[in-house]
Amino acid sequence: MASVAPVVDAEYLKEIEKAREDLSALIISKKCAPIMLRLAWHDAGTYDAKTKTGGPNGSIRHDSELKHGANTGLNIAIEICEEVKKKHPKITYADLYQLAGVVAVKVTGGPTIDFVPGRQDLLESDEEGRLPDGKKDLQHLKDVFYRMGLSDQDIVALSGGHTLGRAHIERSGFDGPWTKEPLKFDNSYFVELLKGDTEGLLKLPTDKALLNDPKFRHYVQLYATDENAFFKDYAVSHKKLSELGFTPKSSSPAHQNIAEELGFAPKSSSPAHQNIVEAAKNSPLVQQSALIVAIAAAMVILGYIFEVHRRV
Ligand code: HEM
Repeated sequence: MASVAPVVDAEYLKEIEKAREDLSALIISKKCAPIMLRLAWHDAGTYDAKTKTGGPNGSIRHDSELKHGANTGLNIAIEICEEVKKKHPKITYADLYQLAGVVAVKVTGGPTIDFVPGRQDLLESDEEGRLPDGKKDLQHLKDVFYRMGLSDQDIVALSGGHTLGRAHIERSGFDGPWTKEPLKFDNSYFVELLKGDTEGLLKLPTDKALLNDPKFRHYVQLYATDENAFFKDYAVSHKKLSELGFTPKSSSPAHQNIAEELGFAPKSSSPAHQNIVEAAKNSPLVQQSALIVAIAAAMVILGYIFEVHRRV
């Protein structure tokens, strides 16, 4: 499958930070956080861990994928992202859509989700039928999320994304918001789910299915009573979703250094990082370079002493 890989250098990281600011301003002014989060999820949620196909690869921008039944309405989010893409053409669509998802959660009051750039753009569409169907049961949710390589806990935490936004009858056949404040990212999705049917609020069959299994119900109850636990787990699950099939190059010391220099990443003090530094210090190349620098310095000093003596 043909794809376009970005070069993640200092320039690219700067563009990412500028795009983050542009997306924040746009999402706040257009009040479009819910559909931006749904865009990020639908681009990533096609991943198949066995065949290593699908995932956050920007393929949802292609007309043929945008026309998949599950993606109805997402052209709105694609068009908003296009405004940012025009200003930052270096950034891949795959990175842009995932950045939009992370920003959407943040600006509505949700947790900070770690974002590492470098996703490749697929030049073709992903196949249809990989996203979940809201009319189905828990087994269907498991089939879909396990296929992506995600866990039961991820299913519950990520379902909490429905704390934002609403269903539109003309897009999905469902209607209404899940919570009373659909532009606020909080744990109210779980609170409402436990309350049962409430006039004016929506519960999809797949939302209700989370209550049918003790393990799933446990997480629903935990997140309904402890918003911090929800935010913490959501940030982890969302990052996983946004990196399905993508191995961030940021784990390489070179990338980490650029990010640190620009102030986008904390200074590394992990044992792994220390080992890399130690290994570099002990490498013959580094030792040879140090020796050459020392000899050059000695020659300069000797030259200076010789010159002083000559004048005296
Ligand atoms: C668990 C399986 C899921 C099913 C069956 C499902 C299904 C749906 C459906 C039917 C809609 C209504 C679309 C419309 O009519 O506009 C919707 C909206 C939405 N979904 Fe999901 N979804 C699932 C998981 C997720 C996940 C994992 C996230 C994000 C982490 C998410 C985020 C959203 C958001 C934010 C909206 C509102 C969009 C808007 O207001 O325009 N969903 N979902």
